[in-house]
Amino acid sequence: MDSKTIRKKFLDFFESRGHAIVPSSSLIPENDPSVLFTTAGMQQFKPYYSGVKKAKSDFGTSNTTSVQKSIRTSDIEEVGDDTHLSFFEMLGNFSFGGYFKKEAIELAHEFITKELELEIDYVSVYEGDSDIPGDTESENIWNAIDSSLIVKKFGKEDNFWGPTGNEGPCGPTTEIYVNGVEIWNIVFNEYYCNANGSKSPLKQKGVDTGMGLERLLTMLQKKENVFETDVFETLMKDIEEKVSSESKVGNNRIIRIIADHIKTSIFLLSDGVLPSNSERGYILRRLLRRAVRYMESLGVLDSLSVFFDSVQAIYGDIYPISDEMRSTIISEIKKEEDKFKKTLAQGLKQFDKGERDPFVLFTTYGFPLEMTQELALEKGEKINEEDFFEKMRAHQERSRSSAAGKFKGGLAGHSEMEIKYHTATHMLHQALREVLGNHVVQKGSNITTERLRFDFSHHEKMTDDEKKKVEELINEKIKESLPVTCTSVVLDEAKDMGALGVFEDKYEDKVDVYTIGDQDAVFSIEICGGPHVTSTSELGTFRIKKEESASAGVRRIKAVLE
Ligand code: SER
Repeated sequence: MDSKTIRKKFLDFFESRGHAIVPSSSLIPENDPSVLFTTAGMQQFKPYYSGVKKAKSDFGTSNTTSVQKSIRTSDIEEVGDDTHLSFFEMLGNFSFGGYFKKEAIELAHEFITKELELEIDYVSVYEGDSDIPGDTESENIWNAIDSSLIVKKFGKEDNFWGPTGNEGPCGPTTEIYVNGVEIWNIVFNEYYCNANGSKSPLKQKGVDTGMGLERLLTMLQKKENVFETDVFETLMKDIEEKVSSESKVGNNRIIRIIADHIKTSIFLLSDGVLPSNSERGYILRRLLRRAVRYMESLGVLDSLSVFFDSVQAIYGDIYPISDEMRSTIISEIKKEEDKFKKTLAQGLKQFDKGERDPFVLFTTYGFPLEMTQELALEKGEKINEEDFFEKMRAHQERSRSSAAGKFKGGLAGHSEMEIKYHTATHMLHQALREVLGNHVVQKGSNITTERLRFDFSHHEKMTDDEKKKVEELINEKIKESLPVTCTSVVLDEAKDMGALGVFEDKYEDKVDVYTIGDQDAVFSIEICGGPHVTSTSELGTFRIKKEESASAGVRRIKAVLE
């Protein structure tokens, strides 16, 4: 079953069961400044869940179905494995006050087992906690459909969804697993998550389902990974043809990353994003530049734009692109490649001459931090990120006005989302110390607009219970709407205050100390250049997405604010 057939089969199935087919919305969400990209099918329908818009008057029915183009860059390091992609499509059916759990589960079961003839391994439902009760209703519905089905129960991390951005509908989920992979997420939007983290019941209950097309195709087409399915086949083949057989050896993952990044870049460009140094444009710039560098490492010197037609061969019928847009996309790719090649040549020359300071390479040659990191890694060396950010902050302080435009966005971490992650990082640091002990010290930190990454000293893998405790503590503190305040003091005074931080000479005489909490009930106190939010209520819900080893004695957490 090829991708065209499955998209159609899905939409037809739901249309014949009372759903209006709605085309995919743009990758740039409309009227939702809290998110950079469309990350799920429900995003274009957010106003219908809250009742601001009425589905009946807009679509003639309370139920819709779509195949939605989506971008997620929070797991960008995982791209190139068997299942992760930065661009993917989501098959979904939605109801805004129409049907609810019973119909949603029955429809999903029928589609998977009858239409696709796939065997369900097991399903999962939300187990409940003191905040939101468990979903026994869904459990009973599954049992009534098929008493032999295994119904597992998981907590919020797995079986609770939303909101996208800092507020919106959210609720418990039930998920379908096939071949050990979660393929369909069925969300029951019963609550509205407010920006301060509190939840109010939605007046009308809603359904939001999402099934990743590429993962489904992997199963239906009996492939090992998403890159072998028909939404990648031509592109992979065309890239591979340019790579010599020696360069291919051991570089399969790199070829996959190139394919992923080219595809995502073309979709971003076709929705109007242009490479730049801020937010969406910065992500596009990173994807293009990373693909260029990987191509060069494989000895391919062609422009990435030669693969435009390979991508079009896969998607042209579904997402047509005008000739005019085609020329724009090709010329934007080439322009960015030229800019990057100049930057790269200069930066590489300096790196080869022995320059290892990412700050110098960035400020003098425009050489991105992540390039220095990757090059250093290839040589088995390590770059001190903390030092880079520290110098960037000091640099900005010195030349605030002239730097304002230049360092905006992904590098200096001053976008609204990055500021939130900054504060969340302090909260995580403190929460880890409270849950695991005071041996926990920050070893590294990296923030993007989509997630935080925090490395810290600790010798064992964290247990589920410990992770839960850390999340709960942070979310509790978020709910308490604690003030975040800053005072400027001399270093010794900061030490006396018990502030966390790196006490080294590099700090100038006076340091900024950020306190989270009231004067008499301080939660976290840390030396930092900022900036931070003014109240923890701005953060939404904190969730740990991954906990893993970073190096000996150092663990790494990736977490998001939802
Ligand atoms: N919004 C849910 C998800 O993205 C279901 O569509 O998983």
